[in-house]
Amino acid sequence: MTRFTSSRVSGMPESVFLQMDAAKKEARSKGLPLIDLSIGASDLPPPQVALQALSDAVWDPSTYGYCLRSGFTPFLEAVSDWHQRRMGLALDPHSHLLPLIGSQEGFGHLLLAVTNPGDLILLPDPGYPSYLGAVSIAGLDTHLVPLLEEQGFLPDLQSLPEDVASRAKVLVLSYPNNPTAGVATPEFMQQAVNFCLQHDILLIHDFPYVDMVFGAYEAPSVLNARGALDCAVELYSISKSFHMGGFRLGWAAGNPEAIAALEKLKSAIDFNQYVGIQRAGMAALGLPREHTRQDARRLMERRDALCQALQDTGWDISVPQASMYVWAKIPASIPSFEFALGLARETGVAVAPGLAFGTRGEGHVRFALVREPEVLQEAAHKISAYLKQRSAVSHQRSAQR
Ligand SMILES: Cc1ncc(COP(=O)(O)O)c(C=O)c1O
Repeated sequence: MTRFTSSRVSGMPESVFLQMDAAKKEARSKGLPLIDLSIGASDLPPPQVALQALSDAVWDPSTYGYCLRSGFTPFLEAVSDWHQRRMGLALDPHSHLLPLIGSQEGFGHLLLAVTNPGDLILLPDPGYPSYLGAVSIAGLDTHLVPLLEEQGFLPDLQSLPEDVASRAKVLVLSYPNNPTAGVATPEFMQQAVNFCLQHDILLIHDFPYVDMVFGAYEAPSVLNARGALDCAVELYSISKSFHMGGFRLGWAAGNPEAIAALEKLKSAIDFNQYVGIQRAGMAALGLPREHTRQDARRLMERRDALCQALQDTGWDISVPQASMYVWAKIPASIPSFEFALGLARETGVAVAPGLAFGTRGEGHVRFALVREPEVLQEAAHKISAYLKQRSAVSHQRSAQR
């Protein structure tokens, strides 16, 4: 059945979230209330000013046409102002910035714009699953770079074999990290930039969780590192910061050659996001920093409630400093898929199996902090009861043998 399916598409991995969907459906059909923590889709509302801006734009006929460069310039000017206020970075709206239809779209198209088939990409393992699909579409060879807990989930770039480093065309990083919730320091970002400059590699830093930071921690932009504009592109999104995943808006910031290549590639594929949605994004980006800090405090309460409840039931949990996830070792030797599917079917609690993020994710699960603290506590209790019941059954079986 490959008459109308390209090898690019058939080479893409199947989405494991489809299997999770079937398990969730089974739980619902049994009448179990679903607590879905398997996907990072925020349940908080978008800012009122963003919704108002979009609603006003819908009645403005000047927004109805195709959106070419002059159409997206106001959005990029607002983005440039945001970078200046937030990071003290002076980015030129015309050469350093480009609007995206979400950072995922940007990632896929950026690979097509900057690589040739057979080029080598350095990908984190575990990592965001859609990277693998984009890599397959671009026909790239992959070298997986382990993110290990003992190294704070940061890659050890210096230990990469010389032939791999010299062949690599692209390095992908993303901090605050999905799924591990690992965080980076400005020093790490500088080391990554130095590594990429030394080996002539494009560094793609996927940065959708820039605002999901707790306490005094601030997530560093790679663009603040010396030399970053010579070798890096950072991908931003309004999906997480403003709970607007369905609106599909983001931007790419960084190296002018890569940005120009991406703009040219996209000109053959899409006509950019609707201007009304860009205006919604501008309204959101114009809000004071306190807006996203307030949302981050709500996330932090959820983080604390979930981590405490899991710790109380005996899990060894590292409390994350950022992101919207808790990444946890399963406290029993159950494969992560079996654990997540069984848990969803039998309790209605859905979590993401670690293996969905790569082989180094095995043995873990990822919780998304997308419900209120009480619901997260309830989920932790249901998980604990599920594990106890499983272990009782397996003891019974081994006693009968
Ligand atoms: C690391 C990472 N990159 C990109 C995305 C997708 O972002 P967007 O909605 O901007 O396409 C996600 C969403 O969960 C993500 O976790």
